Amino acid sequence: MESNADSFRESLFAETRRPLQEASNLPGFVYSSPEWFEAEMRGIFFREWNCIGRVEQVKNPGDYFTVDIGGELVSVIRNEKNELRAVLPVCRHRAATLLKGAGSCRAIVCPYHGWTYDLSGRLVATPGRHRPMETIKFTPEEHGLVNIRLETWGGFIFINFDPEAPPLLTWLGDLPELARNYRGEDLQSTYTVEFMVDCNWKVYAENSLDEYHVEFIHGKHMAPSNPYLMEVVSASGPFDCWYNKYYLSAPSGVPLPVIEGLSDAQKAGVYQVHLRPTFELILSPTTVKYMTMYPETLTRTRVAMTWCFPKSTIELPNFKELAAADYYPTTTTVLEEDNQIALDVQRGLATRFRKIGRFSHREASIRSFENYLLDMVFAERKRQKQQKAV
Ligand code: FES
Ligand SMILES: [Fe+2]
Repeated sequence: MESNADSFRESLFAETRRPLQEASNLPGFVYSSPEWFEAEMRGIFFREWNCIGRVEQVKNPGDYFTVDIGGELVSVIRNEKNELRAVLPVCRHRAATLLKGAGSCRAIVCPYHGWTYDLSGRLVATPGRHRPMETIKFTPEEHGLVNIRLETWGGFIFINFDPEAPPLLTWLGDLPELARNYRGEDLQSTYTVEFMVDCNWKVYAENSLDEYHVEFIHGKHMAPSNPYLMEVVSASGPFDCWYNKYYLSAPSGVPLPVIEGLSDAQKAGVYQVHLRPTFELILSPTTVKYMTMYPETLTRTRVAMTWCFPKSTIELPNFKELAAADYYPTTTTVLEEDNQIALDVQRGLATRFRKIGRFSHREASIRSFENYLLDMVFAERKRQKQQKAV
């Protein structure tokens, strides 16, 4: 390609636009191009609702946690009125980072020069000076932290950088109804495993949409009596959903109690939901797991899987032992297998002599994800051009 602009020529993606049986994968440069990464951040992650955690991570006023989405920091904090707020944890003075990781505070105090914000992000003090700042027309009300939209569903916290985006519940489509019986708001997260994987975020997102690889990469974990059979669940919303009766084998043979109120189909199998861009929800009879895959840089992706259970299950005397024996380790091993293949695929995509690949009939959701990506990126470029023209 002669210039950066060439990497956005629509003709380069004509093969991915074809129907599944005729289509080819995206070209490899899309997984290693800084221009594409920036376009995806602006066109996808800064436009869509992104799930970044659970409400029980911030139980009390002052509790907070911070995440990184493509270099954009977001802190979720519970304020004095017990409301959740999302803010950019970057000081309005000279940009020091205010909140890192997770913790609890009574006010947000900048480590650099002590500017202090309340738990809603309002600037309340500019201390440490021997006399007034002598800054003309300085109004603290105009120097609060940048607010980011936050809405919740089923105990999950979603944020959106786009003030024009539709409300979360509208955007989710049929998902709240599909997941209603699991009563997400009554669940508690008990364990999270997190990995930093040196691959582009799309490599991991596509792997999570790929049911074709399961019997090859993860075959040894499958119960022989229960073949891995995915049925597509048709529903409306920004997600793919499958149902299957496959369970990871339970070494102890003593399963935890089934979540109360599930339908017969819900008791007998697993619904796997992939909400765009990178949120996976696994609704199973005894536990709800969720996975997030957020890009930190072009070739570095933070992958986190969290297990949630009903309070009544967590209160069982043997809960910790059973969860530690049957639930956490197998899925963690499965993720480690995915991490390795993601590294290998990233390396393969970057080889200069690679020729483009074709899809199998089992990869409809990957083709549709790649087309969603193209739609979002090109729509954003069009918006930017229109704004420049005004
Ligand atoms: S950068 Fe925060 S007080 Fe100066
Ligand atoms: Fe996998």
